[in-house]
Amino acid sequence: MSTGKIESVLSEERRFDPIESFASQAQVNEERLDALRRRGGSDPAGLWADLSREMLAWHKPFTVTLDRSRAPHFAWFSDGQLNASEACLDPWIRKAPDRPALIYEGERGDSRSLTYRELGEAVERLGAALRGQGVASGDRVVIYMPMCPEAIIAMHACARIGAVHSVVFGGFSARSLYDRVVDASAEVVITADAGRRSGKFVRLKAAVDQALEHGEHPVRRVIVFRHSGEDIAWHDRRDRWAHELTDSAAAGCPAEYVNAEHPLFLLYTSGSTGKPKGIQHSAAGYLLHAKLTCQWVFDLREDDVFWCTADVGWITGHSYVAYGPLANGATVVIYEGAPTYPDGGRFWSLCERYGVTVFYTAPTAIRALMKLGDELPAQYDLSSLRLLGTVGEPINPEAWMWYHRVIGRERCPIVDTWWQTETGGIMISPVPGATPTKPGSCTRPLPGVHAAIVDENGNEITEPDRGGYLVIRHPWPSMLRNIWGDSERYRETYFGKFGDSCYVTGDSARRDADGYFWIMGRLDDVVNVSGHRLGTMEVESALVAHPAVAEAAVVSRPHEIKGESIFAFVVLKSESARNESAPPKSEGEAARSEGERQAIAKPSKQGAMQQQLRAWVDEQLGPIARPDDLRIIEALPKTRSGKIMRRLLRSIARSEAINQDVSTLENADLVRQLTQP
Ligand code: WTA
Repeated sequence: MSTGKIESVLSEERRFDPIESFASQAQVNEERLDALRRRGGSDPAGLWADLSREMLAWHKPFTVTLDRSRAPHFAWFSDGQLNASEACLDPWIRKAPDRPALIYEGERGDSRSLTYRELGEAVERLGAALRGQGVASGDRVVIYMPMCPEAIIAMHACARIGAVHSVVFGGFSARSLYDRVVDASAEVVITADAGRRSGKFVRLKAAVDQALEHGEHPVRRVIVFRHSGEDIAWHDRRDRWAHELTDSAAAGCPAEYVNAEHPLFLLYTSGSTGKPKGIQHSAAGYLLHAKLTCQWVFDLREDDVFWCTADVGWITGHSYVAYGPLANGATVVIYEGAPTYPDGGRFWSLCERYGVTVFYTAPTAIRALMKLGDELPAQYDLSSLRLLGTVGEPINPEAWMWYHRVIGRERCPIVDTWWQTETGGIMISPVPGATPTKPGSCTRPLPGVHAAIVDENGNEITEPDRGGYLVIRHPWPSMLRNIWGDSERYRETYFGKFGDSCYVTGDSARRDADGYFWIMGRLDDVVNVSGHRLGTMEVESALVAHPAVAEAAVVSRPHEIKGESIFAFVVLKSESARNESAPPKSEGEAARSEGERQAIAKPSKQGAMQQQLRAWVDEQLGPIARPDDLRIIEALPKTRSGKIMRRLLRSIARSEAINQDVSTLENADLVRQLTQP
C-alpha cells in the first residue's frame, strides 16, 4: 500500500453508530457483546467450550477443550465426535424440511431451488455413490465445479462420509489443478461438463482431462455432473456420470462420525513461495466458528435470505456459503456468472428478485459496480436488504460510503470482516447491533480472538496508529491445523517468527486511539488481486517455465478496481539458450512448444512476446494471475549479493520517485534505463 493511501486512511474520521432499529432486534447487543468479550478475554478456551456445547450437535461429547501438547499444532475438543455435514444440515432437515436451503441462478436467468430436505437427500445420494466408488473416511476428493448446487452437495457428501474435500476454484488452469490433485494425493475428482461466465463456457471437464494428461497422478475416478450439456471427451475406464452413480447407489447414507480434529477439508492458497499450501481445517472447530460468526457478524436467522457472492473455490465460499449459513437454517442464494452480465445491475436484480436480506461481497466488486454509477442500483427495489458485508481486502472509504449510501440506502449496517483462509472464519469485524463503524476499519476482534499488533521483537505496540505485525496470541477453534503434508512449513510460516503461541497473519495493521484495527496490507510477497491472494513467486515460477524466459520478477501496483494488479519484469533468454530448452513432457506441451518456437523464432516484436507471456501465465495459473503489465528488460536490478531489488521494481511499477538506496546495485546504469518510460 502506498504511503499516500495510508495517510488518506488516517484522516478518516467518519463514524457510524449502530442503527437503532437494527440494534434493538439484533441477536448480539452491546451488553451481550461486552459479556462475551470479557469472558473471551479472560478465559477464551472456556468461552469456546461453552459455545461449542451449545451450538454443535455432538455425537460423543468432548471432555478436553484445548490440547497444546503438540503446539503449534493445537487440538480442540479432541475426544469429541460428530459429523460436520450432519451437524450442519440435519437440524433443519428435521425442523424445516420444506424451507429453501439453496436458490441457484445461472447467468442466463435459469433458476432452481432446493429445500433442506432435497439438499439432504442429494447429499446422501452422492455420499452413498462415493462410498460405492470406494471412497473412505480420510480420503481426499478434489472438487472442480461451477458455482452450482452440486458443488455444495459434493462438499457435504464428502463431509458426510468423512472424506476430505479439496475444492479447486473453477477459474484455475489445468496445470494448477494438476498440482493440487497431486499434492493432496486425491484419487477421485468431482467435476462438471462446463460452467458459464460472461456468456462463455468454462470447460471444466476438458481442463480435468488436460490436467490428468500432464504427468503422473493418483486419480482413478472422475465423476462428472451434467450441467451445461456441452459435449465432452470421455475416458471409459476413468469417467462416470454423477447421475448414473447416484441413481444406482444404495439408499441412504449413514453419517460417518469422526473425531473433532478429523480434517474436514483442504483448501490451497498462495504463499510467498511458488508452491501453494494445502490449508487443513478440522471438522468441529471449523464448523463452530462458521456457524457462530454468522450469528455474531451477520445476525443471521432462519428467515434470512443470505447471499455471499464468493465462489466455493475460496474460503469465503466454504465458511459463508457451504457451511455457516446452512448451519443456521437460512436460505442461501448462489449465482453462477459475472456481476456485470448482462449489465452491472445483475447483483441488484438478484437481491430484488430473491428478497436478499444479508449481502456479503468483496470491495473489488463494489468498486467495479460503483464505477457504473448510481442509476443502475436505483432501478431496483433493495428494501429487503438489512445488512451488508465486505471481505477480502481493505475497503477504501469512498467505496464504503457508496455501499452505505447507494446499496444500503443509509439504513443497513456494514460489516467489514477481516479474516483469512487460515483462520477459517471471521476474526476482526463489527458486530452490527453493537459496534460503531468507521469506513475502512474492520473495527475490533471478535470475542475470544486475541488479535494484537506487535513490533519486530514481538512486543505489543500500544501507541495508537503505529503499524506492525498483525498476530493472534491465543489459539482459536477454527484455526488451520496444518499445511497438508508439510508440518515444517506450517511451523515456519505461521509460528516461526514469534514462537508457538503467536500466530503470524502475514498482514500489517495499526490500531487507532479507539482500539480500532486498520489493515495496511500484506507483509510477504503476496499480491491481492480482486480479493484473491496470489504469491508473486507463483507467477514468477510460471513465467520462468516459459522457454523464452531467463528471469522474472513480479510486483504489485495499486489498481483502481482490483485493489492490486500484477506487474511483471521479464528478462528473455538469448536466442541460443532458447533452443536448448528441455524437451516437452507431453503431447500437449509438444504442440505448445512448437507454437512457442515459431513465435520465438520470428524476430520477436516486444508486443507479441508480451502478449504471449501474459497468455502463458493465464494458461499456467488461470486468468486472475495474468499480469496486467509485463515489461521486457535487459537485466533485473540486483544487489551485489544477488538479491533482486524488489522495492526498486515496485517503485518503478508504480511510477514513484526512486528514493531508495541504489548504491548496492550491481548494474547502476539499469536504473536509468528502467525509469525511462
Ligand atoms: C486480506 C479471505 C483488509 C488480508 C477471507 C488477508 C482483508 C487476506 C480483509 C486473506 C479485510 C481479507 N480488510 N484486508 N476485511 N479481509 N483481507 O486467505 O490481507 O483469501 O490476509 O481469505 O486478505 O485472504 P484469503
